[in-house]
Amino acid sequence: MAETTITPLDDGPYLVKGPVKLVDADGNEFQVPGKTVALCRCGNSNTKPLCDGTHVTIGFKSKDRAGG
Ligand code: FES
Repeated sequence: MAETTITPLDDGPYLVKGPVKLVDADGNEFQVPGKTVALCRCGNSNTKPLCDGTHVTIGFKSKDRAGG
């Protein structure tokens, strides 16, 4: 089974690489293009739960590191 990796990008979204099924609270599946998904972390995307790049224009800042 392939591994799925979730990376909080510096000042950006959660990048999800690998097999993933993205569903809403009712269990309905979102159509996601490709095998990599960028999930909004700033809370301001107009295409939630997907990132639409708005984090850049609002100046979202976050640099999460494991073990820190
Ligand atoms: S993280 Fe990209 S729009 Fe929110």
